Amino acid sequence: MTTANALGGKFPLDAGLTVNRVGFGAMQLAGPGVFGPPADRDRALAVLRRAVELGIDHIDTSDFYGPWVVNELIAEALHPYESHLVLATKIGAYRDDKANWLPLNHPDALRSQVHDNLRRLQVDALDLVYLRDMGPQAGIAFADQVGALHELKEQGLIRNIGLSNVELDHFEEARSITTIASVQNLFNVVNRTSAALLHATTEAEVAFVPFFPLGSGFADSRARGDDALAAIADKHGATQAQVSLAWLLHHACNILLIPGTSSVAHLEENTAAGALVLDEDDTAKLDALVADGETLEEAH
Ligand SMILES: NC(=O)c1ccc[n+]([C@@H]2O[C@H](COP(=O)([O-])OP(=O)(O)OC[C@H]3O[C@@H](n4cnc5c(N)ncnc54)[C@H](OP(=O)(O)O)[C@@H]3O)[C@@H](O)[C@H]2O)c1
Repeated sequence: MTTANALGGKFPLDAGLTVNRVGFGAMQLAGPGVFGPPADRDRALAVLRRAVELGIDHIDTSDFYGPWVVNELIAEALHPYESHLVLATKIGAYRDDKANWLPLNHPDALRSQVHDNLRRLQVDALDLVYLRDMGPQAGIAFADQVGALHELKEQGLIRNIGLSNVELDHFEEARSITTIASVQNLFNVVNRTSAALLHATTEAEVAFVPFFPLGSGFADSRARGDDALAAIADKHGATQAQVSLAWLLHHACNILLIPGTSSVAHLEENTAAGALVLDEDDTAKLDALVADGETLEEAH
């Protein structure tokens, strides 16, 4: 399914669209709490430009981030886009003026969010659009939401459909309605609560894109108590962040990384994790940190 390179190899999202397994999550480029503009706009633009220079061809974003700020930064930094750059966005929610994340899942609202993303990212079609599953609080049948995305794909406005924050039953339901190219749920070395879903995507050869791949910066300190991450990092002359990311790449062949950062130094460090090879002893120790379905807190 994958071919080797320094960015963790390539993975096919669809028959004609392949991405490096190490990508970039742009959410951290907004202001504090993913709300408002960044403190340093030039630094945010520099991170995006450096990502593309490093060979990253998959950037994860959303109109929710800022809101709108991150999509505007991406267009400013990178438009006109390199032809192989995949921009993945999300719909199904909005931010109110107090920074809350609220559902916006009516099919009409989903359509207008797709058009908003097209306009803000300055593209004619979106490579990958995740439907954020807001569960029962959405108040709209999940099948109707997926059906709306399927229609947008038929119209050529969306190239691939993904699901975010989804449960296994909704993954299966969505696949009975349309082709699902990718699933984005929380998963990392210290949080395996989506392990069953990951397994289902691996079996289905659907991409799995863990959000918070670094535990949103917590993996380091939380896992330190166990020493496994620190010892393996020392052994390879790598950082704990790099080991956490490399573990994900080793864990399942359909995992694609979108580590988030607002710093060029961290971006370079995280991208280099694509070339870090862990041995069987390393992966066994890291596998044992947490059981499937658990987080580190539950395991200790
Ligand atoms: N679908 C969803 O519901 C959902 C939810 C959350 C996120 N996401 C997506 O997932 C992406 C990744 O999530 P995330 O950015 O929240 O979490 P993350 O990648 O797990 O961690 C990001 C945090 O770790 C820090 N960090 C990054 N690289 C580091 C390094 N090498 N050493 C030490 N600290 C480092 C960052 O701070 P610095 O800025 O200082 O580097 C930031 O605080 C987001 O960009 C977004 O696209 C999706």
